[in-house]
Amino acid sequence: MSEAISVSATDKRSKYEELFPQLVSLIGSESDTIANMANLCAALKDTFNFLWIGFYIVKVDQLVLGPFQGPIACTRIGFGKGVCGTAWKNSKTLVVPDVNAFPGHIACSSLSKSEIVVPVIDNEKVIAVLDVDSDQEAFFDEIDAQYLEKIVRLLKF
Ligand code: SME
Repeated sequence: MSEAISVSATDKRSKYEELFPQLVSLIGSESDTIANMANLCAALKDTFNFLWIGFYIVKVDQLVLGPFQGPIACTRIGFGKGVCGTAWKNSKTLVVPDVNAFPGHIACSSLSKSEIVVPVIDNEKVIAVLDVDSDQEAFFDEIDAQYLEKIVRLLKF
């Protein structure tokens, strides 16, 4: 594993393309899920300067806050609640261009304007979600969905 992530590209797709092989080597020799979640958050925050990025982990009937980077956040989210609980319920990535227009959005930070939530799936079951917040409206799109889904598939359980 190298000591730092280095991405020089400027457009989003190229950034993900440059970052991905570094993530593969970052978590390649580590089997611990929490350690890998933590480093994925750090590497993605470093690269994209997201407002907040973190994992919520399924524990019985709730999502519980896991490794993250950014300001403190809500610790528990119910099944079907907020953007995270909805992505969990539907087992599907959710891109929210305007969080204020999403019914039931849970505001951990008033600075958050848009959000993407990507389910982490093991054996056809959602075992966690990756939640990313931006302070800009409509920041996330299909490119983020495509690459973040690919990135969470690197995790081992
Ligand atoms: N906004 C999320 C809650 C988590 S925070 O954004 C970190 C939601 O509606 O589920």
